[in-house]
Amino acid sequence: MREIELGTPILGRYILKARLGEGGQGTVFMAVDEDQQNVAVKIASGKEGDDRLRLEADRLSRINLPSVPCLLDAGVDPVLECFCIVTELALGAPMSRIQPRRRRDAWVYGASIAAQLAATLEAVHAAGVVVRDLHPDNVLLAENLSKDSPGSSISVRLVDFGLARRTAEDETRLTDPRLVAGTPGFTAPEWVEDAKPAPAADIYSLGAVMFYWFTGRPPFISQNPETTYAVQMSSFHPPFVPLQRWPESTRKAVEKLLNQTLASEPARRPESPSSFARQLEKILERSVSRQRRNQRLVALFLGLTAVVWTTVYWLTWNS
Ligand SMILES: Nc1ncnc2c1ncn2[C@@H]1O[C@H](COP(=O)(O)OP(=O)(O)O)[C@@H](O)[C@H]1O
Ligand SMILES: [Mg+2]
Repeated sequence: MREIELGTPILGRYILKARLGEGGQGTVFMAVDEDQQNVAVKIASGKEGDDRLRLEADRLSRINLPSVPCLLDAGVDPVLECFCIVTELALGAPMSRIQPRRRRDAWVYGASIAAQLAATLEAVHAAGVVVRDLHPDNVLLAENLSKDSPGSSISVRLVDFGLARRTAEDETRLTDPRLVAGTPGFTAPEWVEDAKPAPAADIYSLGAVMFYWFTGRPPFISQNPETTYAVQMSSFHPPFVPLQRWPESTRKAVEKLLNQTLASEPARRPESPSSFARQLEKILERSVSRQRRNQRLVALFLGLTAVVWTTVYWLTWNS
């Protein structure tokens, strides 16, 4: 495909303004429509990209959620002669580009990110679709600083339904059977055997994404995709080492939950995305309240010590 320049009108009405990302199947741009509204335009590269984007448009048309940028337009661009899809532009940065040192609030935001992703996945599954390619490039995070409430919150958007499959139908496989379409380390290992699309695969990826959020690295890394998938299929449990120092009991409890979620057998994983998110929230909340109780005890101890010393000093001074 020829180089696409900024300023090019796509489908005759979307003017490309900036390049957002590039993948195997196409390039994504920020663009403006005729009303000067910002949108995202994904342009297919090559025949396989074209077929994938048509499937992506079909998957997106079934999903209507605030956390998934909705499909606004799709079609073959008459000049480029390739399929394009236009979606809402999501704010935020991909989780993969948020520097670990900026993730000081990883602990605070962890439960919220997991809960939002879990709610999104459950709604997508209810629409009969499995995402299949949930990984840190496809999770956009935006911090909302509120003037009215102290602290801030984070909102999650899920993009890229290029590999999503419908649970109900048998599809023609688009990828060479020797290749596993997905992201090694994040895509569930049952896809290597081209399993039937099932929500358990996305529960696995949710665990892998949360592992990445807390540790700054994927749970499984190896020299090449094949060996990574082989490790994922083995009984190896990745050591869970968070970026910040965690209380050992919390670290162990989260490690156990993640190991269960990253089990190679789908039946051993938590029963639903929200059951995973709830368990994670409970562990983190318990730990935060234990820390607060310890802080209160330390404050009480220091206060009592001060009172005792003041009394001793006063008595000595007056005797
Ligand atoms: N709707 C959107 N709003 C904002 N950024 C987006 C949107 N869609 C995609 N992107 C950005 O473009 C990148 C590539 O898009 P994606 O759909 O994941 O394509 P690919 O299939 O090539 O991975 C994403 O990682 C994200 O940073
Ligand atoms: Mg992507």
